[in-house]
Amino acid sequence: MTRILVTGANGQIGSELTKALRLRYGHNNVLASDIFAPTHVEEPFGIVDILDKERMAQVVENEGVTQIYHLAAILSAKGEADPLRTWDINMQGLFNVLEVARTFKLDKVFFPSSIAVFGKNTPKVGTPQHTVAEPETVYGMSKSAGENWCQYYCERYGLDIRSVRYPGIIGHGQKPGGGTTDYAVDIYHHAVQGKDYECFLKADTALPMLYMDDAIKGTIDLMEAPKEKIKVRTSYNLAAMSFTPAEVHAAIQKHYPDFKITYKPDFRQAIADSWTDSIDDSQARQDWGWAPEFDLERMTGEMVGVLRGR
Ligand code: NAD
Ligand code: SER
Repeated sequence: MTRILVTGANGQIGSELTKALRLRYGHNNVLASDIFAPTHVEEPFGIVDILDKERMAQVVENEGVTQIYHLAAILSAKGEADPLRTWDINMQGLFNVLEVARTFKLDKVFFPSSIAVFGKNTPKVGTPQHTVAEPETVYGMSKSAGENWCQYYCERYGLDIRSVRYPGIIGHGQKPGGGTTDYAVDIYHHAVQGKDYECFLKADTALPMLYMDDAIKGTIDLMEAPKEKIKVRTSYNLAAMSFTPAEVHAAIQKHYPDFKITYKPDFRQAIADSWTDSIDDSQARQDWGWAPEFDLERMTGEMVGVLRGR
């Protein structure tokens, strides 16, 4: 029987992924966990600090966990406030998951990487699967190192660990927790509430983005794909759309013609400038059938519709 532990389940992605996994594998077979008490997820829930390996091992043993979806991390912008602490949480947290998974011979582990692994020497347009990865944030450094550790545990210990490089994720549930792509969620909330939006990136800053429903479906598809189809054991490029703040503003104006945006770039501009504009995800499409459904227009219709209803 599949029994899943989700770390970072209170977060933007964790809260949605937990719901989707519960629908698929049975509510009580998915244990949500986070360092904070639950906000957007239901029981069963346990407080697990990913830096506490003994507690994680205890939960895995007591609950008969067979898979871990390891989402807990500090994201790009927030991570720059305390680089060494970010490295500690992102790396030691991953080591604890890898060691617990190896010790208890878990069936599978999911590790989300990020477009933050890329840097200014990476080809900016149509970034290939295998390319220069010289990240410039501590978050990107931790994801890049993490990808390589995942491959190492797979090759050395036979651990079936799978990973994707998520672009900026946009959803209408839990708000994002401190990334550089957060503007692309906040902007919808402002538009629907009838407020102007001050964007912390420049108008023409293109970044790869992905709607939450596609992210969740892609994650579960990857995890359920036959093992022989998984050819990349660092992390798969994943893409759906790329847009700039000016383009998302124009898409929202089709629903709210009077919606106004101003631009006041801050330290996050340099992070965004170091990332790529668009991603080549053909290997994920070819190996395990990645096929996103949402483009900017469709996503905007859904975001506006759901948030307005709320
Ligand atoms: P988030 O910031 O919304 O959630 C992260 C969660 O981790 C939070 O609920 C936080 O409380 C928890 N956490 C932090 N420290 C912890 C600790 N020591 N122990 C246990 N839990 C702890 O992040 P998210 O957007 O949901 O991202 C989930 C994963 O996906 C992360 O690994 C992130 O790097 C990756 N990712 C996200 C995006 C995105 O756009 N959201 C893009 C690329 C990759
Ligand atoms: N959306 C994430 C961030 O901005 C990318 O990993 O940090």
